[in-house]
Amino acid sequence: MMEKSFPEGFLWGAATAAYQIEGGFNEDGRSTANWDVFCRIPGNVYHGDTGDVASDHYHHWKEDVALMKELGLPAYRFSFAWPRIIPTGKGPVNRKGLDFYDHLVDELLESNIKPFPTLYHWDHPAVLDEIGGWTNREMSAWFADYASILVEHFSDRITNWITINEPFVVAMIGYQLGGVAPGMKDVKATAAATHHLLLGHGLAVKAMRQAAKQPLQIGITLNLSNIESASPSQADRDAARCRDAYLNRVFLDPLFNGKYPVEMTENLGFVFPEGFEKDLPVIGEPTDFLGINNYTRDVVKANPANDLFPFDLIQPEESTFSTMWEMYPKGLYDLLTRLKRDYPLKAVYITENGTAITDGIDADNRVRDSRRIQFLQDYIASVHQAIKEGVPVKGYFVWSLMDNYEWSLGYSRRFGIIFVDYENGQRRVLKDSARWYSDVIRRNGFDMKKYYAEPFQSN
Ligand code: FCB
Repeated sequence: MMEKSFPEGFLWGAATAAYQIEGGFNEDGRSTANWDVFCRIPGNVYHGDTGDVASDHYHHWKEDVALMKELGLPAYRFSFAWPRIIPTGKGPVNRKGLDFYDHLVDELLESNIKPFPTLYHWDHPAVLDEIGGWTNREMSAWFADYASILVEHFSDRITNWITINEPFVVAMIGYQLGGVAPGMKDVKATAAATHHLLLGHGLAVKAMRQAAKQPLQIGITLNLSNIESASPSQADRDAARCRDAYLNRVFLDPLFNGKYPVEMTENLGFVFPEGFEKDLPVIGEPTDFLGINNYTRDVVKANPANDLFPFDLIQPEESTFSTMWEMYPKGLYDLLTRLKRDYPLKAVYITENGTAITDGIDADNRVRDSRRIQFLQDYIASVHQAIKEGVPVKGYFVWSLMDNYEWSLGYSRRFGIIFVDYENGQRRVLKDSARWYSDVIRRNGFDMKKYYAEPFQSN
């Protein structure tokens, strides 16, 4: 008997995003993207790396789908590039942009792989930033128009759709901390962007249902983490509550409960655009599933000296880290069971989970990424446990199908289960984790094993 077997029909997949893999930045009518601009500003991206070529999926898509087929992947989450589809942001459609995705989608379907696209994974035509980007309320309507064009065109073949990927990163990291495009540091703009992203989502859901050629499954993807306070002190617990409002509830509450959390306005000084209350019913437009991206947990300590955020995230000692974050599989279980307690979840997809570790091609052309296998196994086991306790998780997507452009960290981080040899003709090599994952898919589960021993540490 297999220890961890998943419900029949559980959807296994892998995920990518347009700007991170496609390249082909100036081909076939694609306009300049916000990220093309952002990555060219010195200091914004590690090593000055750009997404001009990335993993060159724009030219390798056929080979990439063949690899997915080889792995037996049932589903593939990718994103559409707004600058390819509507190069001016809100004007005419670019036929060649649609063509690229037509070919991709048809190839996926022929290979028996379910396309599970995201409409917006952070890239939009740069011209839209000249008129305010997400601080401009009209952006929500332009996004909904873009969404309905894609649904009109593809809903004969695609039933599962994600509107927006991680509005937190766009709003808070993009408009408040300046770490992703557009690189602003303005709390007022952040509150506006937060609201308009949510409004754009709600308007899009409505427009998509109208444009659909068959009933669709529509959801939004949030990056959520379980929040823990660094100590039982009141100050740390209050800080953790604020962090929870800022990362999780600022999106979950308007989507599911028709309101913003009070901590946002009271403790964190967010001023949402005037008349925002009127939009809350639109934002709460019912969806079919919630997409969750999860990588780690947040351990929070109070920091009263910081008036913008009265909290710090700490790295717990004696824990294990990737080249990005703490590896903490139980955090995903804690998160899922908490969400079930607090929100009326119909269905959940883990739309991203994975890890960046140091890996490379060995002399025999293998990539022995056993730490990634360990990570995936332990996180997926957490999902298994949550399902056993009644959380309606319907599928899981590993981030990422292939190594790619990790935003402000450029090519310095590798998240793929497929290695991309950027220097050698963009050669693809299946990592050990890809083979392991393929086996999990085939068996619809796995037996728990120890794949990786921590390096010996003397003390
Ligand atoms: C998420 C993003 C995804 C990728 C992973 C590592 O925040 O959605 O594009 O960069 O992190």
